[in-house]
Amino acid sequence: MTTYKEYHARSLRDPTGFWADQARLIDWHQPFSQVLDYSTPPFAKWFVGGTTNLAHNAIDRHLATRGDQPALIYVSTETGEEKTYTFRQLYREVNRVAGMLKGLGVTRGNRVLIYMPMIAEATFAMLACARIGAIHSVVFGGFAAVSLATRIDDAQPTVIVSADAGSRAGKPVPYKLLLDEAIELAKFPPSKVLLVDRKLAEMKRVPGRDVDYATLRAQHMNDEVPCEWLESSEPSYILYTSGTTGTPKGVQRDTGGYAVALAASMRDIFCCEAGDTFFSTSDIGWVVGHSYIVYAPLIVGATTVMYEGVPVRPDGGIWWSIVEKYKVNVMFSSPTAIRVLKKHDPALLRKYDLASLRLLFLAGEPLDEPTARWISDGIGKPVIDNYWQTETGWPILGISRGIQALPSKFGSPGVPAAGYSVKIFDEATGAELTQPHRKGVVAIEGPLPPGCMTTVWGDDDRYVRTYWTSVPSKHVYSTFDWGIRDEDGYFFILGRTDDVINVAGHRLGTREIEESLSSHPNVAEVAVVGVADALKGQVAMAFAILKDATKADTLEKKLAHEGEMMKVVDSQLGAVARPARVHFVSVLPKTRSGKLLRRSIQALAEGREPGDLTTIEDPSALQQIKDAIHA
Ligand code: PRX
Repeated sequence: MTTYKEYHARSLRDPTGFWADQARLIDWHQPFSQVLDYSTPPFAKWFVGGTTNLAHNAIDRHLATRGDQPALIYVSTETGEEKTYTFRQLYREVNRVAGMLKGLGVTRGNRVLIYMPMIAEATFAMLACARIGAIHSVVFGGFAAVSLATRIDDAQPTVIVSADAGSRAGKPVPYKLLLDEAIELAKFPPSKVLLVDRKLAEMKRVPGRDVDYATLRAQHMNDEVPCEWLESSEPSYILYTSGTTGTPKGVQRDTGGYAVALAASMRDIFCCEAGDTFFSTSDIGWVVGHSYIVYAPLIVGATTVMYEGVPVRPDGGIWWSIVEKYKVNVMFSSPTAIRVLKKHDPALLRKYDLASLRLLFLAGEPLDEPTARWISDGIGKPVIDNYWQTETGWPILGISRGIQALPSKFGSPGVPAAGYSVKIFDEATGAELTQPHRKGVVAIEGPLPPGCMTTVWGDDDRYVRTYWTSVPSKHVYSTFDWGIRDEDGYFFILGRTDDVINVAGHRLGTREIEESLSSHPNVAEVAVVGVADALKGQVAMAFAILKDATKADTLEKKLAHEGEMMKVVDSQLGAVARPARVHFVSVLPKTRSGKLLRRSIQALAEGREPGDLTTIEDPSALQQIKDAIHA
């Protein structure tokens, strides 16, 4: 038997041999002629010349052997809908939507923006895009008009697929209203908008532009749309994510490399195979939803569960009741979701028969030991952390139980996954820190393995500048996370090096929030930092200088002003980005050259020492931060 260490070592020593082996996990229409082209680093092309299709691998190839097996189980505790689609039924629905999109003028390489609640049609739309070679850009439903408009303008979609409304904890979320606002703001509006009418909200239709999904579907009932065979490196999708600068980056994913990497990750890390049932509680608007609700489970022939609702409605046992009812084998969630459950009756963890469940994976933010122990003891199953990013599309660090039963260590997401050469570098010098327990930037030596981002949509320079130059060492990709490695090769992640914060597993850019708050007419200057929070991991906290401070000079006025500013963020970016608090100060801590001392503000907000202050311009600014927090 190969040890995991040998397995991983081979993936780096002989990447072409290793990945050629993995490539057999998927179907190719035309075989590739070269496993890896790394002639223009950092751009890596995997499986050059090979043609394939994600929808073929996720659906068509299973029809002969598992056509009647459930492919997608949809459960909504918001509407009470519960529906199972077999692979054959999924095939039919995806062909219909593919026909509909083609009919609306979408062709290979066009973008289709999907702004949808967690409904089965969202999955159909993604797979339909894959089928016809259109590039989907799914935008998380929690984002509001300005965020959405930025993404519309960057992706310039031919068609947008949306719905009247979503529902969260029984309250409608007006997707169509927000979409109309966004299209109004956008410079590149789509020519058609395809709308699912769930009859949850009133919908005004724009004649000539808005098309009804059900009506169009009825016209495409019998469509059979052949798969477009894409060259392995052709883009499958764009997914926007936050970074240091205000404008979100469109992470571009390839086709062949992604399919291969996902299939390998299901075997090596998630221990999930054909016939199993996989339940990821994420949202399709995030990378976990793309990879582990939609593509990975289906590619390996597993059944995927898609859930619309919150984890505690009707009560904190809802997920476990789904596990019992649908005999879920593998589950994937986030630490915040578990911390939410922790506030509810622990007896709910024991109420259902969880015999089918083998493993629970958690990712997206640091997993604290009490939470890991609580859930693992509560459900009596192993709980496994894994660490990755929108950019990589699948785990960088994990516990590859599929190869060898490696032990987990609390606080560590594990060891590098096959294909990743993960190292720690000194941020300033770019020197590799080879000794254990040295804190530095977690970085990946190029080439990135298959499945990772291939570039920033429409901006190769930004890709190189952002990811490949921040560690001053050649061909090294920065994760923008601090970390250390111990003597056994386990990594520990210690937070971001940039201005990204992680609120309840949602990745947000503090600069975006600052920009939004600055648009309030009474804001002169504002700083937003992430502050540790027992439930959400982090929350955003804002410190603002007002143009007219008299508008917040009493407690009552302060609260009203704070509420107004929060509303600005709600309406522009979405409630997901709303700061937990907005404090008012008259000066912000800056260096003499005018740079905001964000790390000091964050430290003070968390009750820590502010760190190196030799360059501070006005030390009284620190006192103001302290006073504001304790007021
Ligand atoms: O800071 C790391 C944190 O989340 C970031 C990536 O977020 P996102 O692009 O939304 O992708 C999430 C995919 C699971 C990382 O740069 N992060 C993610 N997983 C972990 C984590 N931090 C600590 N432990 C983890 N397991």
